[in-house]
Formats: sequence, structure tokens, C-alpha cells
Amino acid sequence: MITKTIFGSPMDTGAITAEIPVVQDILYYNVSVQEKEIVFTCPLGTDDIVYGLGETMGRVNKRGGRYISFNTDTAEHEESNPSLYASHNFLLVDGKEKFGVFFDTPAKVTFEIDYKNSGEIRVICHTRDLKLYQIQENSPYAIVRTLLKAIGPCYLPPLWAFGYGQSRFGYKTPKDFTDVVKGHAENRIPLDYICMDIDYMDGYRDFSVNEENFPDLKGFVQDLKDQGIRLVPIVDAGVKIQPGEAVYESGIKGGHFCRNKEGGFFQAGVWPGMTHFPDFFDENAREWFGNQYQFYTNRGIEGFWNDMNEPAIFYSEYTKGPRKLGFFLDMILGEKRKEKKKQDLIRDYQSFFHNVEGKRVRHYDVHNLFGALMTRASSEGLQRLLDHRFLLFSRSSYIGASRYGGIWTGDNTSKWEHLMLNVRHMASVNLCGFLFSGADTGGFMGNSNRELLLRWLAFSAFTPLMRNHTGCFTKNQEAYQFGDTAAFRKVISLRYRLLPYIYSEYMKAALTSDMYIKPLAFEYPGCEAIEDQLLVGGSIMIAPFVKEGTSRTVYLPEDMTMVRYDGEFHCTPAKKGKITLEAGYDEVVFFIRKGKLLPIGPEITNIRDYNVENLTLLGDGDSYALYTDDGLTRDCTMENVRYL
Ligand code: NOJ
Repeated sequence: MITKTIFGSPMDTGAITAEIPVVQDILYYNVSVQEKEIVFTCPLGTDDIVYGLGETMGRVNKRGGRYISFNTDTAEHEESNPSLYASHNFLLVDGKEKFGVFFDTPAKVTFEIDYKNSGEIRVICHTRDLKLYQIQENSPYAIVRTLLKAIGPCYLPPLWAFGYGQSRFGYKTPKDFTDVVKGHAENRIPLDYICMDIDYMDGYRDFSVNEENFPDLKGFVQDLKDQGIRLVPIVDAGVKIQPGEAVYESGIKGGHFCRNKEGGFFQAGVWPGMTHFPDFFDENAREWFGNQYQFYTNRGIEGFWNDMNEPAIFYSEYTKGPRKLGFFLDMILGEKRKEKKKQDLIRDYQSFFHNVEGKRVRHYDVHNLFGALMTRASSEGLQRLLDHRFLLFSRSSYIGASRYGGIWTGDNTSKWEHLMLNVRHMASVNLCGFLFSGADTGGFMGNSNRELLLRWLAFSAFTPLMRNHTGCFTKNQEAYQFGDTAAFRKVISLRYRLLPYIYSEYMKAALTSDMYIKPLAFEYPGCEAIEDQLLVGGSIMIAPFVKEGTSRTVYLPEDMTMVRYDGEFHCTPAKKGKITLEAGYDEVVFFIRKGKLLPIGPEITNIRDYNVENLTLLGDGDSYALYTDDGLTRDCTMENVRYL
């Protein structure tokens, strides 16, 4: 059961689409309405588990931490960092009492969860306008399902979006892209798309292309498509200020940009220099922005990643001078500089305004919704522009944006801890509704290495978004850059062999408001402390290697079938209890749950060759509900399920 309680006059964030009964009673939490905030407190039992908060630092069980929902462009994915790119204000307590609460406000929210052993949850909503959704069911899984149903149907990507993608900040010329295609083809490593980072643009300007490098982008897109490879360009939140340029001029003419204090259009410095931010809170501006994607769809493009939409601001008309002064200056000025940067950013967020149904609203007060509304604008635009499904994922998000697109978790680092963070994130974002998700496989900052990339790929093989992405100053990170390409081929080809299952499980989950990835304890109570094993769909348990080495402990909550993939599938029964698992870097081991089946497809290197004609079934179940469709049109219903 889910109920809604309203404080003040909250804006409609669009997070929840179902009709929810309004109640006055706040169960479980004590409420204190103060001058500028509402504080909720709730005592915790010593063994209570607290799930939630989606994309944040910390463990899956959020106890012990302090987290702040305030969407931030940050590469510091360290424990001490309270805010990443998203705000997923949902907490679920699993103890003697089981309940979930979604604090629905676009304003800043601070969560202290048994912080410094306080023995309580303390949530400070830095606003007096709020919708509070309370969910009561008899298990954590049931609570999440109720939330997901209330959010509404999840985004449905095309089949090719489940293929393997390669990306790098720095690919610039057609040759950079064709080299990637060649590198994969020569080594028979599967590939379905390549992301174009900002270097494809003319002066980092959205809806433009560097004509010198790409005199015929449409032809180039088609050439690659003929080889089964799609190009996926990045789109940033800011529109470059460039008088005379058509997108800019039409934005000005329509009044589609955020306003500054003086009533002019707010100017923010990002990659292209000074930009205006589209006012995604305004329906007309959303429509205008979504229509701009025509620039790409006219050229045959069907996939996009939306970036810098917290929004990231390097400097502004009020806080002059590049905020990124360079490494040495930052070092000399140290903490002081960091603090100033933070203050400047807050000042910027306080200095521009949105038009929310005719009302002028300060950006700072609704900050956390900006990225989600950019996703909404582009998703709705693409719905109009294309008559089929498209790939779309965003860096910033808010609960509910899962109806419009997927997410990736931003600028992580090539280190083992961030592979583990990726594992935790997948459990947490799924329970906030974000099924189509993934991290920068291999790591964005710093240099990856063979072992780390292989293990990261072995995990990403199970996440809906499987994209290798790295920054502009790092070593090459494509799967053929580390010698011994056979190992990479094996690990990535596992993904393609699992595709009938991955696609089927994703689509069924999306169509029935279910989770695609779950914490182990959601099906096996008692396993709450195990965060480095996950359930993927209904049949699989994974226990990824998140540390260097070829041996790890795995706990089997019941008898299962152990599957070792080394290019072939080897199945052996595995008994309930703790086991020591040995696996070389070129092997992937996972488990099929008791009484379940896993359909396996033939070995392919591109979605073009995907077929479900001759599936092999592994495991000891009786039947499997396979979802299939043409992978592209919007005709997706549960009627597409057949039983194997
Ligand atoms: C920040 C994004 O997080 C990263 O993935 C991208 O490569 C850079 N912006 C450059 O566009």
C-alpha cells in the first residue's frame, strides 16, 4: 500500500504517475516542521537494514553514512563525498517493521542514517514543500515493486542498446571511429555502438558537427550502420551563445532559456564557453529542445547520452574566470580554492530562474530535477521524431526519469574499489526504478589494466548498459589494447550469448514494474550482509570478482548450478553454503538458481546476427518465459512472452 502526504505547496516533480490516496498520518517518522526545513526522524533497531538512495556513495545498506541529494558534477567518488550526480530520495527500512518512504522534493535533502551511531534516521528536507510517499508491504521486494508501479512504466531501449559499446573522451575524426571498428573486427570482439564525445561537435556546440572532420555525417553514420555499428553522440545541457546560429537564435526567439536575476538569459561557462541553459521546467522549452534532436535523427542517429545536466557550471557571468584553473594552482590554493569553487557554484545556482507554469522559480530550490527534465525533453522529442525505440541515457537523474531513459554513473576511476561501487550502485539504482543503467566499464579517470578491465567487463556483461568509456588523458582502454585479445573476446562474447536472457529479463521487468537487478537478500532473507553478489533477472546469481586475484568466497543461499564460461559453458551442481571460487581472468563464473532455466544464444559479434531460433537451456528448471520481439518497434507487451 502506498499513500501520499502533502506538506506546503510542493511542485509536481512528475516522479509518481499513479493516483495515490492522500493521508495525514505519518507512520514511523517523527516530523518537525521548522522555519526553512522539515526534519524527519525515525529510530532504528540495531539490526535494521536501510536500503535506498540509488546513486550515492556508501554500501547497499546505507547505515552509518551521511548523504546529500544535491546533484553534482564530481569525479570524487570517495566515501567522504555526500553527493553524486543524482537524487534518488527513497529509503527502505527492513527490520521488525518494513516500510519505504520517498521524499519527493526537487530541493536539497540531507540523509543521516545511523550516522555516528545515532541509532536513528534523520532526514532534513531543506524546504517546507514536499510530497511524502509512504509504502507498507511485507517485504523489501514488495515495497520496491509498489514504488515502481507508482512511478510508471520503465523506459524501453532497442535491442541493439544491449550490445557492447565503446567510448572515449577524445575520439575526434572518422578515422578514430573506424579504427575502433577495425580493432574490434580484427580481433573478433563483439561491438554494436561507439559513443561520440564532445569532440565530434563544432566548438563543443550541441546540435552541430565539425564539418571539416565530418563533411558527410549522414553518409558516415550509414557506412558504419552497414557494418552493424551505430554512432551515439553526446548532448550537453548548455546551448552555446552564438548569435546568428540557428539553434541559439530560435532558443532566444522562443524565450526558451533560463533567466538571470536581471531578467536576461543566464550565462554559464561550460565546454563550449558561454552557454544558456534551456529551461527544462517549461513545457514549451522542453518541446523546443526535444525537437533539436532532429539534427541527429535526420542523419540516421538513434542513440544519445545526455551529459553535464546537473547542470555542471565551470564559471558564470557572476562568478567569472574558469573554475578549473589547473592542477598546480588548485594544489597551491588547496582547500581554500575548493571551498571557493563550491561557494561560487551555489551562488550560480541561486542566480538563475525557471518558469514553472508561469511562476518564476529559483533554480537552487528545484536544482535536483534539472537533469531529469532534460532527459524528459529529449525522450519526448525522440518519441516524436522516430517511429521506433532509441537509446538514451543521462548522467543526472531524479526518481521517475526512468520512464524516459537510462542512466550511467559518471566519472569513476580505474580502480577495483570503483568496480565494487558499480556493483553496489546497480542494486541501489534498480530499487529506485532505474533498470537501464551501467558505469564506465574499465573506469573513466586514471589508467585501467588488463586484469581490472577483464573483471569489469565480466560484471558489465550482466548490466543493461555495457559501455567501455574513459577520459581524455588516459591510456587506451579498448578491449584490444591489452594484448591477449582472446580473453577479452571470450568475456565480451559471453554478453552476446546471454542476450536472449538479458533482453528478455529486462523487458519483462520493465513491462511489469519489476527490478532487473536485485540485492541477494531480496530473494534470500538472511543474506543482507552480502553486497558483492547480486541477482540478475529471475534465474541468475552473480558473484563478480571485485578484487585483484583469481580466488574469492561465494555464499550459495541454496543449491545452484555453477556455470563456468571459458568460451564454452560448463555446468556443475554447487551445494548450498560457502565455497571458494577459482576463476582465471579469461573465465566468468556465475550461478543458475534452483528450479530455474537460462536460455543461451549462439556466439555472435553483432546484434545483426541475433536470433532466438536455437537456444540452449541451462539449469534444472521446467520452463522459461522468453520475451522476444523485433527489438526496435514500440509494440512491446507481455503478449510477446512464450514458454520454452
Ligand atoms: C563528463 C562526462 O561524465 C564524461 O563521460 C565525458 O567524457 C566528459 N564530460 C566530456 O564530454
